[in-house]
Amino acid sequence: MQGTENRPEIITGLKGVYFATSDASFIDGDIGKLLYRGYSIHDLAENTTAEEVAFLLLKSKLPTRAELDAFTAELAANRELPAPILDIIRLTKDGHPMDVLRTAVSALSSFDPDTEVKFEWASPQPFIDATMRKGIRLTAQVPTIIAAHHRIRSGQEPVAPRKDLGQAANFLYMLFGKDPDPEDAKTLDVDFVLHAEHGSNASSFAARVAASTLADLHCCIVSGIGTLKGPSHGGAAEAVMSMTNEIGKPENAAKYVEERLAKKERIMGFGHRVYRAEDPRARHLRERARDLGNRRGHPEWFQILQEVENVMSRYQSRGIYVNVDFYAGAIYQLLNIPEDLYVPIFAMGRVPGWVLQAIEQFQNNELLRPLTWYTGAMDVPFPAIGNR
Ligand code: COA
Repeated sequence: MQGTENRPEIITGLKGVYFATSDASFIDGDIGKLLYRGYSIHDLAENTTAEEVAFLLLKSKLPTRAELDAFTAELAANRELPAPILDIIRLTKDGHPMDVLRTAVSALSSFDPDTEVKFEWASPQPFIDATMRKGIRLTAQVPTIIAAHHRIRSGQEPVAPRKDLGQAANFLYMLFGKDPDPEDAKTLDVDFVLHAEHGSNASSFAARVAASTLADLHCCIVSGIGTLKGPSHGGAAEAVMSMTNEIGKPENAAKYVEERLAKKERIMGFGHRVYRAEDPRARHLRERARDLGNRRGHPEWFQILQEVENVMSRYQSRGIYVNVDFYAGAIYQLLNIPEDLYVPIFAMGRVPGWVLQAIEQFQNNELLRPLTWYTGAMDVPFPAIGNR
């Protein structure tokens, strides 16, 4: 053992640890405030699109109309997948969509035109510029992977992306093979805006750890995708909808939640590592979930969620409030999106955030390598294999 006397304070979960600076997003968890590049998430959710926010995050400024048009066209032009990627999706089609996404993104690195651009200590800028180009391509390609996989596993042909549709509308079009309702597309677009960036969350941290080794962007995004999959991070929306389906009717909600809490189980869609107030993103999804439920003639999902929120309000004194995933699941369900695509949709929205975090890391890099305090045995005599 390294001993207990001189043991340093161990910050489990790295709670409250600052390891880098960032210009991208500001979070004040005590008052539920979130800014992207200084702009309020509320202004962005109400007035921008996924493309506009991706530009803001990647290029550090809001686009002019001409810049936004050019950026939107660049994304639209990069949506197609190389044919071998579709073959890989066919080969792995029975896996979880996050596993298929991880595999396809990994394979895309072999086809990326900038794959040969390596980091050079004396002149890092060409590598950073190539990372930006890769990031724009991945922002465009990830939705195509997710939609193509869903089509293929359902026994249908993938639908080719369209250049005339925005990120959200094109995704719904590729998934269902028909023009999406504009309000549905707007709802998903707002969801992408809200999920685009969120400081040093676990998946962005994973992307930065990969970047800190000077691995290329595809490695960083694969790390992010793998880390997002867990139910404590991106998997919560899926778990919320499973819970809502189990509850079934608004009048069952209170009893269901009480029983789970009595068994010390967690209620998915509540609590957050940084927010001790309501997650500011939840407000927009709450409104969208209510409107979508009414439009679809299914107000009951929203009513169930409201009941759950009412019971959970007593946990607010402990800093446990509703988070972004709570209403996201209801929105995806009302959009007829299968439950196992909820996390990939989160991933789709988060790509710009992962890209910018990797770029920030490359721009001011230091290998991320913390320590673990050894608590095992010391200097044990080595026994030969026959003596064990
Ligand atoms: N339901 C019930 N109790 C919860 C809770 C929830 N959703 N989230 C946290 N708590 C309780 C814990 O049981 C713990 O109680 P204790 O001190 O009596 O043991 C306390 O709050 C602190 O929890 P902890 O896990 O240490 O906090 P954290 O900051 O590490 O947790 C999450 C953050 C997100 C992992 C946690 O809130 C959670 O598991 N939420 C559900 C999953 C979810 O919605 N994830 C999406 C996040 S965007």
